Amino acid sequence: MTAARTLVQVAGLTKTFTLHNQGGLQLPVLNSVDFQVGSGECLVLSGPSGTGKSTLLRCLYGNYLATQGSIRVRDGGQWCDLTTAPEHQILRLRRYVIGYVSQFLRVIPRVRTLDIVAEPLRDRGVDADTARDEAAVLLRRLNVPARLWDLPPATFSGGEQQRVNIARGLVGGHAVLLLDEPTASLDADNRAVVVSLIREAVAAGRCLIGIFHDEAVRDAVATRVLPIQPALAAPNLD
Ligand SMILES: Nc1ncnc2c1ncn2[C@@H]1O[C@H](COP(=O)(O)OP(=O)(O)O)[C@@H](O)[C@H]1O
Ligand SMILES: [Mg+2]
Repeated sequence: MTAARTLVQVAGLTKTFTLHNQGGLQLPVLNSVDFQVGSGECLVLSGPSGTGKSTLLRCLYGNYLATQGSIRVRDGGQWCDLTTAPEHQILRLRRYVIGYVSQFLRVIPRVRTLDIVAEPLRDRGVDADTARDEAAVLLRRLNVPARLWDLPPATFSGGEQQRVNIARGLVGGHAVLLLDEPTASLDADNRAVVVSLIREAVAAGRCLIGIFHDEAVRDAVATRVLPIQPALAAPNLD
């Protein structure tokens, strides 16, 4: 078997939050995390709640700045280090390379569901009709009823919003996809749909990094598991 083409390289990633409203208290969360992951892999981050799994995904999306270490992402023929890249390069990566399904849909007022899902394709220059057609295919697979597609998802149930969120994350075809508990608020049938979509994405050569609370889901999608250890508090030198 040939090694997967590496798409993400994380080395020595350390994240310590400084709580300014607590007198500058330092909260170490990630301590020198190393991994590589490539095309056709689904790396699952595991560990108890509060160990920094979501923080790691946010660092990989460029939402949180790393305290130390590097996060290199392959962008065509080049590598881009998210810890030092300027804002415009991070925005470019989000458009073309890295997708992110957050735990909760960030609802945009007044924008209808079909357009929310089609937007990542529109952002890459796909024409409106094609983008909507592809959005519709995913919404249908995820059992979001067609009568809801023209409505903004603000009033949808948690599970419906999460399925809109998943459709929006998958539609863009990003080579690297970050998933933060995408099945947490879904029933068994819809969880199974998401598992199928993830497996298809991996089979198509995409690179997924995800957090899955549900053990059965984790076992069904993971090609590798990375335990995230609680970072030890900084030693007290007094
Ligand atoms: N923006 C933030 N500011 C301060 N602390 C944070 C922030 N984001 C996360 N944390 C803290 O980092 C720790 C890890 O959180 P998180 O990454 O959400 O864990 P997990 O996803 O593994 O449950 C928690 O103690 C949390 O309170
Ligand atoms: Mg989390």
